[in-house]
Amino acid sequence: MAAKTVLAAVAVLAAVTAAVKAAAVTTTESDVVVVDDPEALDAVDDVVAVDDDDAAMAMFGRPLERWRPPLGEPECRMHRLGHLNSVLGVTADSPVQRPLLELDLALARASGQGCSVLDGAAAKLVMPRVKLRLYYGLGENDNVAAPVGSASSLVSDPHFNRNRCLAVYAFGYTSFPNNIYTRDAITALVQANQYNVLLVDWSAATNFSYELSVDLIDHVASAVAQDLKGMLDDGASLCFVSGHSLGGQMTGYISRHLKALGDTVPCVIALDPAAPLFEGKYYGCAQRLARGDADRVIVLHSDICGLGSLISQGDADFYPNSGYHGQPGCPGDHYDRLGTPIGSCSHVRAVSIFAAAVRNGMAFPARRCDSWEDFNEGFCDDDGDGDSPVLFFPQCSQRISGSFFMNTTGSVPLQSTNPPAG
Ligand SMILES: *[C@@H]1O[C@H](CO)[C@@H](O)[C@H](O)[C@H]1NC(C)=O
Ligand SMILES: *[C@@H]1O[C@H](CO)[C@@H](O)[C@H](O)[C@H]1NC(C)=O
Repeated sequence: MAAKTVLAAVAVLAAVTAAVKAAAVTTTESDVVVVDDPEALDAVDDVVAVDDDDAAMAMFGRPLERWRPPLGEPECRMHRLGHLNSVLGVTADSPVQRPLLELDLALARASGQGCSVLDGAAAKLVMPRVKLRLYYGLGENDNVAAPVGSASSLVSDPHFNRNRCLAVYAFGYTSFPNNIYTRDAITALVQANQYNVLLVDWSAATNFSYELSVDLIDHVASAVAQDLKGMLDDGASLCFVSGHSLGGQMTGYISRHLKALGDTVPCVIALDPAAPLFEGKYYGCAQRLARGDADRVIVLHSDICGLGSLISQGDADFYPNSGYHGQPGCPGDHYDRLGTPIGSCSHVRAVSIFAAAVRNGMAFPARRCDSWEDFNEGFCDDDGDGDSPVLFFPQCSQRISGSFFMNTTGSVPLQSTNPPAG
């Protein structure tokens, strides 16, 4: 291999490292790489040669481990390739697509540090600023907040309605209470007039690097579970725990902690649960949501091969528009020349669908099918009672399992284009 290539590779590494160091908030994307032809893959192999391990050793104290497209995820590669080719006009002489080095290095760093980039002292700094907020109105300030871990007292607040069950919502990485999507979910839940709406406000923890937020999930979820346990012991009831992206993964942590305290989350609704660190090469530190964590686990996938999980994690997994990155109405939501997803329109589609479904339980009839292809060819199973579709949201009260498909329109408020439910 030419010395020139090695030099170029080291320069790339140095530049990426500088970028990672400079950015307090690492931009996180999926850890899937597209390589559009075998020659390009060879070129990548050349670039990430043994010589780079020396650089990686110097910088990270460990060899650079490069992600490789895992078996079983060819759809992601094909999906991205399709986008790259059609949207960006990628041709054979386009620049070589290389691994998402920035994320790769960040993840390598995290997994090289014994699954933790956070010491106890940092958790102690962040945790007092994490809050549970009880929303009682549609305004941004219509909430009462209590520090997580000592928030079970919220049941005694005059705004707590003992005739209503709890609906918990957790947002994802870099989000916050007044983020437009968090607002959409919260106002829909408040407007439903049947819940005590609790927001896990962990914006103090989602403000830094992605790995740090992942590290903090367990601390936050443990404290939330203690609060929920206190509320349940005080006579409150719990309807569901929901969340988007990292918040979607947090639903699993909360459920497992509550189980350890002797209670069960009756229903989890995970909205496009986050993929990075929860699947793929660096999976092993974080613990992904799984069926069995709660009595019922419902997952909505809207950004597979983007930021959202590819893995079927629920008793019921819903796939609007196939669930893949590149949802209708997300035209700018494609991949850059390195195969990095741009934008997160598809990722937040899951929140928009959830909010619309909370507002109108009939809005998203879906069909149980073995595959997206079967759905499009009309080979869906009947649900035992004829040709009846299953509605996305109210399924906390139904025992259903399998994969469910629906098509939606491309503008918010989203609507299903499936035939309406019976
Ligand atoms: C997030 O970080 C910014 C910049 O450091 C800071 O101004 C802001 O207060 C932080 N937000 C939270 C919720 O901690
Ligand atoms: C769902 O949408 C896709 C993409 O527009 C289309 O190809 C497919 O036929 C639709 N399927 C059904 C069952 O409507």
